[in-house]
Amino acid sequence: METLSFHGKFWNELMNMKKKRILSGLQPSGKLHIGNYFGMMKRMIKYQDENDLFCFIANYHALTTKPDKFQLHSNTFNAVCDFLALGIDPEKSTFWIQSDLPQVTELSWILSSFTTVSIMDRSTSYKDKVAQGIKANMGLYSYPILMASDILLYDSEIVPVGKDQKQHLEIARNIASKFNRYFGEVLKLPKPEIEPRNQLIPGTNGQKMSKSYKNIIPIFDDEKNIKSQIMKIKTDTADINAPKNKDSTLFKIYSLFLDSNEQIELASRYDNPGLRYGDIKNELFERIMEYFHPYRVRRDDFQSNPSKVKEILAIGASKASSVANLVMERVRKAIGIKLNL
Ligand code: TRP
Repeated sequence: METLSFHGKFWNELMNMKKKRILSGLQPSGKLHIGNYFGMMKRMIKYQDENDLFCFIANYHALTTKPDKFQLHSNTFNAVCDFLALGIDPEKSTFWIQSDLPQVTELSWILSSFTTVSIMDRSTSYKDKVAQGIKANMGLYSYPILMASDILLYDSEIVPVGKDQKQHLEIARNIASKFNRYFGEVLKLPKPEIEPRNQLIPGTNGQKMSKSYKNIIPIFDDEKNIKSQIMKIKTDTADINAPKNKDSTLFKIYSLFLDSNEQIELASRYDNPGLRYGDIKNELFERIMEYFHPYRVRRDDFQSNPSKVKEILAIGASKASSVANLVMERVRKAIGIKLNL
């Protein structure tokens, strides 16, 4: 009996040791599209099976661009339903809304004293947003500090991100190292993980798929709209009997839904005479609807059950808090904010 429980304990510890804490956040920015899904969510949701996945909806970050009370509210609820429908399992992972943990803004303030203005001035995403015409405000400017706080508050080890977020990860690491240089190993340095294959999912016009470029293929929209977006995918005017370009948007998007054999098959259709882009688009539409069908059913269920969603989020926030509180204790003690009386 004694040995058995000893072994049991040992085994559990071994298992916990192996589990890496992976963290990611997604802004509630409107309609979820296949770029979000293949760029990040699919991979991330898989992590929950073997790792300690922490995943949240970054609603404070969403506040930095366009304040709209009703839109933020509905986008946040929609994003939660999207994640749950696509398979985030609140039993296996920790899933919450960013603003449900006030600790994150507390840490953000503390970290801002360890962030040089020069590193912030180098932030390309801030410059891009301002260039796009978004009014520069301090929230937008400090965005990377809040993101660093998101990451460091939970002792995150790995942060899977798209290429566009790589610099934010570097800023988070920079802030953490500076903090640790003053106070010792208080904050855990996160590692980025950049997906090599589907790094950039092209949108219907060939640019990176993004809501701001108006080139998305949504996942949970009505069928008609999904179809009309697919029909918009830019193709060339090659003759029907000419070999077609496989390094093209339509081919790339379709490939996301194909296994390797099917990709080879599609490639050979592209090489041979008689291929019509319209047929390929119709097939792609069918494929997309089939692929996401089970998720659409689940999503409807969550959408019509807000009290269930609320309960799931409360559990997530409390799990996240139990980690955040420990880290904040460490931080407050380390910097001398907490009086030892
Ligand atoms: N900035 C990220 C994005 O726009 C969202 C985000 C906020 C995030 N906090 C994070 C991602 C922490 C990873 C880790 O996609």
